[in-house]
Amino acid sequence: MRMVDVIEKKRDGKALTQEEIEFFINGYTKGDIPDYQASSLAMAIYFQDMNEEERANLTMAMVNSGDVIDLSLINGIKVDKHSTGGVGDTTTLVLAPLVAAVGVPVAKMSGRGLGHTGGTIDKLESIKGFHVEISEDEFVKLVNENQVAVIGQSGNLTPADKKLYALRDVTGTVNSIPLIASSIMSKKIAAGADAIVLDVKTGNGAFMKTLEDAENLAHAMVSIGNNVGRNTMAIISDMSQPLGRAIGNALELKEAIDTLKGEGPEDLTELVLTLGSQMVVLAKQAKTLDEARQLLLNAIKDGSALAKFKIFLEQQGGDATVVDDPDKLPTAQYKIEYKAKSNGVVSELIANEIGVASMMLGAGRQTKEDEIDLSVGIVLHKKVGDTVQIGEPLLTIHSNRQNVDDVIDKLDQSITIQEHSEAPTLIHKIITE
Ligand code: URA
Ligand code: CA
Repeated sequence: MRMVDVIEKKRDGKALTQEEIEFFINGYTKGDIPDYQASSLAMAIYFQDMNEEERANLTMAMVNSGDVIDLSLINGIKVDKHSTGGVGDTTTLVLAPLVAAVGVPVAKMSGRGLGHTGGTIDKLESIKGFHVEISEDEFVKLVNENQVAVIGQSGNLTPADKKLYALRDVTGTVNSIPLIASSIMSKKIAAGADAIVLDVKTGNGAFMKTLEDAENLAHAMVSIGNNVGRNTMAIISDMSQPLGRAIGNALELKEAIDTLKGEGPEDLTELVLTLGSQMVVLAKQAKTLDEARQLLLNAIKDGSALAKFKIFLEQQGGDATVVDDPDKLPTAQYKIEYKAKSNGVVSELIANEIGVASMMLGAGRQTKEDEIDLSVGIVLHKKVGDTVQIGEPLLTIHSNRQNVDDVIDKLDQSITIQEHSEAPTLIHKIITE
């Protein structure tokens, strides 16, 4: 087989066979196929698209390009959740113990944050002693005993995706539905998921800016999952403003604890219940989404979700007393109020920009090597649709430096107050097939 023939076939709008796709992925991973041919094929896919079968084959070829995590020793259906990325997205921290409390095994492989979106591991590491450097055997044992554990990303998952994603980044081929969908799904499948729940974000803080694009991506991923034997569901949720009120590692951890107590922000709580219900149904712990939601609400009400969170922290070396005493979390030296400059209704809290403001305080990494400050970030007092009076605090900046003029400048550009506005729709669509 010659790579040039594969490129020409796709260029002319024809469907590639499984053999052709595997030839490309295997050859490219090994270095037999050069970047220039791979980028040419990526561009052909960008313009000519791929059918469902090609997408499924591309996904599985990338899964098989590296290690595949074997979770078969864990009892039950392992459901993983993936979010396409957002600002202040605290859902995983709440979902993991919550669905575990109703019997769904959560074997989570997670990463650190890069750029203006935070990583789950960073947030968890704001608890003294908590660590994710555990062996695979230990990981399996913990999930079997207590239904929940988190492990750091292993080295050689989907090397084909790593290489192709980096190439797409510099060849104008990131924004292609078949390429994005296969990229995301390959990582989830290689990490051992039997079933997958997807939270596709839309809005200015998201990868997919429009609802139409988000819907197309969600459908593409759901159909890949179902075509390769992983039950998959998706929701499309708003990321025009940050989720919940807290942005920043320890601040979000505190927010997660509040939410597990039933005292969390409304939007975060609703998103957690929606995603959690899908996880519970896919794990076959409930027959309907309504029944699943009731189980989750009960687990919050009767304290079992919070108890599960404590066990989870303790079993990975963390100081679980922070749950009852959140003052033990790292706290910033300065708390600076940012006040409304006019009367009206908050109409814009640009998620992306507020994420960047939080990163400027030290909550996020610009490069992989950066150290982050777990204590800093932003807490919103008002969200889009809320009425404000001039001089009323819109948010509090948690900082370890006294001068935050640069952050305030950034916030000035991210926040708008108008005469009228409404809260955005939080959950646009629920996609179950
Ligand atoms: N995120 C991914 O993991 N892959 C893509 O291609 C785009 C976003
Ligand atoms: Ca949040």
